[in-house]
Amino acid sequence: MDHFSYKNGELYAEGVPVRDIIDAVGTPFYCYSTATIQRHYKVFADSLEGLDTLVCYAMKANGNLAVLKTLGDMGAGADVVSSGEMDRALAAGIPADRIVFSGVGKTAEELSAAVDAGIMQINVESEPELEALSAIASAKDRHVTVSIRVNPDVDAKTHEKITTGKSENKFGIDIGRAREVFSHAASLPGISPVGIAMHIGSQLRDLKPFREAYENGVTLVEQLRSDGHTIDRIDLGGGLGIPYFEDEGESPPPSPEEYGTMVKAVVGNLGCKVMLEPGRVIMGNAGILVSKVVYVKQGPSRRFIILDAAMNDLIRPSFYNAHHAIMPVAEPAVDAAYEEADVVGPICESGDTFAKQRPMPPLNDGDAIAFKSAGAYGAVMSSFYNARPLVPEVLVTGDKFAVVRRRIEVSDMMAFESMPDWLEGSG
Ligand code: LLP
Repeated sequence: MDHFSYKNGELYAEGVPVRDIIDAVGTPFYCYSTATIQRHYKVFADSLEGLDTLVCYAMKANGNLAVLKTLGDMGAGADVVSSGEMDRALAAGIPADRIVFSGVGKTAEELSAAVDAGIMQINVESEPELEALSAIASAKDRHVTVSIRVNPDVDAKTHEKITTGKSENKFGIDIGRAREVFSHAASLPGISPVGIAMHIGSQLRDLKPFREAYENGVTLVEQLRSDGHTIDRIDLGGGLGIPYFEDEGESPPPSPEEYGTMVKAVVGNLGCKVMLEPGRVIMGNAGILVSKVVYVKQGPSRRFIILDAAMNDLIRPSFYNAHHAIMPVAEPAVDAAYEEADVVGPICESGDTFAKQRPMPPLNDGDAIAFKSAGAYGAVMSSFYNARPLVPEVLVTGDKFAVVRRRIEVSDMMAFESMPDWLEGSG
């Protein structure tokens, strides 16, 4: 359920005509709906009612400060994967005691910053990281709470680039060695291992792999307790998928309610605080990328709809062959004739393609379209490739909207660069 729909033949974001935002900020831009963000967070959190939980929004999905503040105000914590993300979460007012730090390659500087900030938990993913964290915390005379991220060797059956819970993936510590590593962790100064964490992948469309991984986690918690450890937290990661193919009639992934029921059944009696790290399911369908058609070009074998947005703005189609539904901002007539077209960006590589042979309604130069489900892993993965400005981000609530990140212009980009002295005044 989202709040992007047609009213009187025009696409609206909540109570705002998308056309008004186009007129105010130009294209391309990302647009997020507050009501959708809040609804998704609430549905997810409500699905776990009865459990002692902390929902730590995986801000890698969308780290805009206004988005973070919207979620933080509802009680969400944050799952961060760099000290940069930690700084952003803190700046948006998410308290340190609701922040979890994940990631395979946290540097000494990042661990040190996390210890200084006094965050709730660091999810440690390797033995060298355990040793490093122990040394850093003891040198500061501090004690940090850690969970050990285990790799349960479960196939999440999702895209290979976003599968994280197989033994050949770089993440976590092999679950078979977890007891040994946990005992070692418990003997180290400066750290208190209190729980286990896992995250098996993203955009999962089936509850089975989740259930299998969580059951393995429950068994491990019981073993660790029988080894004499006090285990009071289990972090189940994120990964619940969202419908991307609604326009093509694909059956939707499990709902948060179905996911919550399964979580309660598997870990409900463990006596642990249950932490979750959803990203996409909160933000994915809460955002659109709005773009304009620059040209429509008829090639010898296909029609190309060339947009002013490109792979640098939304890389998911090029990188993961991801499907994003496309809605014209002006609602197509009921009897509109759809014809197949390739929807592409202007960047100089063929991979800059959003959709191949997609049935599209009639579109002309200057018409605007919106990519749906672009709120997660959209703006955060954008780049300056081809010296293209970073597009603005707009947040809507009711009938109001605000630019929450302005366009980052080419002049901003160039301001980060400098000429070495031997080139100054040459030529
Ligand atoms: N926790 C950890 C440790 C993670 O690595 C991730 C995502 C999440 C939570 C959140 O997963 P989610 O609920 O959003 O599925 N760029 C890719 C997705 C990468 C996901 C990486 N890790 C995409 O555009 O599909």
